[in-house]
Amino acid sequence: MSEQLILTAQDKAGRYEEVLPQIFSVIADESDRTANLANTAAILKEAFDFFWVGFYEVKTTSDNSFQLVLGPFQGPLACTRIRYGKGVCGTAWAQRQTIVVPDVDLFPGHIACSSLSRSEIVVPIMHPDDGTVLAVLDIDSQTTNTFDETDRHHLEELAGHLAAQW
Ligand code: SME
Repeated sequence: MSEQLILTAQDKAGRYEEVLPQIFSVIADESDRTANLANTAAILKEAFDFFWVGFYEVKTTSDNSFQLVLGPFQGPLACTRIRYGKGVCGTAWAQRQTIVVPDVDLFPGHIACSSLSRSEIVVPIMHPDDGTVLAVLDIDSQTTNTFDETDRHHLEELAGHLAAQW
């Protein structure tokens, strides 16, 4: 595997189009999920210089319910556990759909792991057969209005790819 990212595109769509195949190539021959999620977070962080990129995985708790638990990420210290329906991540889990938050101050219940985060996108990773949420991909930016339909489109493609290899 190449350990050097090729990053030439100047526009966001072009950058996604060159980066996603590189992610797919890096994770293709590796069966360990933690390793693959860690490299995916690292590549997205390097390619786009996002403030925070990471995964929260749906896991069982000691009382037999489910929570999102922090997984591989790149960026500052983050909240460890998020409950169903809470924050942007827990809402994306409950609604089973991507949530784009242009300004975190305007999202009721947003969980501020860092006061520096100003906008956010959360993309659920869903089981290809039954649609249950396996994890969410969360990306934060230090500026408002960072994420749009281009991010949603490409990150949902990435989520589908990760789900197929879960
Ligand atoms: N802001 C998220 C919490 C996770 S951090 O951003 C890393 C939320 O509201 O769910």
